[in-house]
Formats: sequence, structure tokens, C-alpha cells
Amino acid sequence: MNQVYEKIVKCYDSIKDRLPFVPKVALVLGSGLGNYAGTMDVKGEISYSEIEDFPVSTVPGHEGKFIFGYVKSVPVVCMKGRVHYYEGYPITDVVLPARLMKLMGAEILFLTNASGGINPAFSAGSFMLIKDHISIFAPNPLVGANIDELGCRFPDMSKVYDPALSQIIKEKAAECEIPLNEGIYVQLTGPSFESPAEIKMLRSLGADAVGMSTVVEAIAANHMGMRICGISCVANLAAGMTNQPLTHEEVQEASNKAAPLFRQLITESIAAFV
Ligand code: HPA
Repeated sequence: MNQVYEKIVKCYDSIKDRLPFVPKVALVLGSGLGNYAGTMDVKGEISYSEIEDFPVSTVPGHEGKFIFGYVKSVPVVCMKGRVHYYEGYPITDVVLPARLMKLMGAEILFLTNASGGINPAFSAGSFMLIKDHISIFAPNPLVGANIDELGCRFPDMSKVYDPALSQIIKEKAAECEIPLNEGIYVQLTGPSFESPAEIKMLRSLGADAVGMSTVVEAIAANHMGMRICGISCVANLAAGMTNQPLTHEEVQEASNKAAPLFRQLITESIAAFV
């Protein structure tokens, strides 16, 4: 068996008897959204550290566990904390959790993150529905022998972010009077923030927001045929757009501030997905 697939199956086998239900939606919580589980009817938890060979995040504020619970009546597996490529993990480990949640039965992957705003019309603390992405600055998680059990060698990428799910999110944002921009998210490896020259380049390439996650997970999930949607919390304006230097603390503070509205938008959207 393909070694990458073997590892995912081993992780799955080690936890499959502990799943309280078959999740419908897999939700990845970005910075600031860590306490989303407080709004769920929680039925179980599995710490990443309990899963043999599972990648465990080293970033402060990225505590790692799967939380299983109902969002209204929808069974959801939620990832509190994700691993990032900049932590030094192979890219196949970075997408292992997304693949594992598909093996658990999740059909929809809801990705969230914090980002830097590149579009000058965006402000800190605003939200952006991800309508497409730019992946070419991050390693492609599908490089290597194809895992035929998961998907095909050359997956189509023309509609990664599901139009019907995206429409529901837009409708719920409007109903809740939560301003929601739409745009293109670009993933860089990090961990350093971008330089002003890089931000100018990314803007000219059509990116609206920049971050260090999400796209590789979307590629792996798209390969497996999951329906995908994503919302980014624009925590700051990107480098060079203000006189402020960027800090991780500032990003966390801004995402924490935006968290109540973010939680509401996620809850209302998930409830309307099924
Ligand atoms: N750049 C990259 N990643 C980020 C940023 C940023 O400005 N803000 C939050 N995540």
C-alpha cells in the first residue's frame, strides 16, 4: 500500500471505535476560532497527541484536538488547531487531518483561517469568502505516487470552492447583517510574514488575501471529491499597506475580536448546508 495512505488508514483504525457519529461536515478552525466548540453540543473529543504518528502543532494558540458535536442538528467534526507546513512537517502530514476526516465520513470541508488583506478595500477584522485560490507558492500535497484509493492523478481544479455552499454562506451573511467580501486567497509557506514587495506582486497576480494554510488542505480535499467552502478572517492589512509592523499577537487579537460574528456565520451556514 502507498505509505502515505497507509499512515492515514493507521490513524483512522486507531480512532474509529471512538467516533460518536459519522460526521457530515468537517470544520477546520483558524486562529481566533479555537473556542468555537463552546457553541456546539459536544459528544466527544480526541487529542491529536493520542493518535499514533499524527502531526501535532507546535504553534502557541493552536491546541490540537478533534471535537465531535452537533451544530444545530448537523454532526460536525471540528479541528481545533491545525499543523502548518512552516512547522517542518512534510506536506503530506499537513493534509493528513483533512484526509482522515474524509475517512471518518465527512462530505463537506469547511475551511477557516486568519489572513492578511491585500485588497485595499478590505479592513482589519473583516471576512472574505474564498472563491478561488493561488497555490503555486506552496508545495502541492498531491506530489508523489497518486493515492488511487482517494482520487485521480490529475484532479480538475476549476471549481474547488462549491458554488452552492458559497451561496448559502453569502445568504446567511446577508441575513445576519455580517459584511462579507469575496476574493482569492493565496497560501505562502511562512513563517515569516511577506515583504511589501511580495505583497505588491501578490496583488498584481490577483490575490485579495494571504495566509499560511488552507490551500493545501483544499487541494487534498478536492482530490478526494469533498465539497469545500472557506472563509478567511482578514486579521490585518498585509505588509506595506500600513505603517504598522506585523506580529502574531496582533493577528490573534484581531481574530479573537472578530470571533463572535465568525462563529455566528459558521453556525448559520452549517445548519443550512443540509
Ligand atoms: N500574512 C500571512 N499570513 C497571515 C497574515 C499576513 O499578513 N495575517 C494573518 N495570517
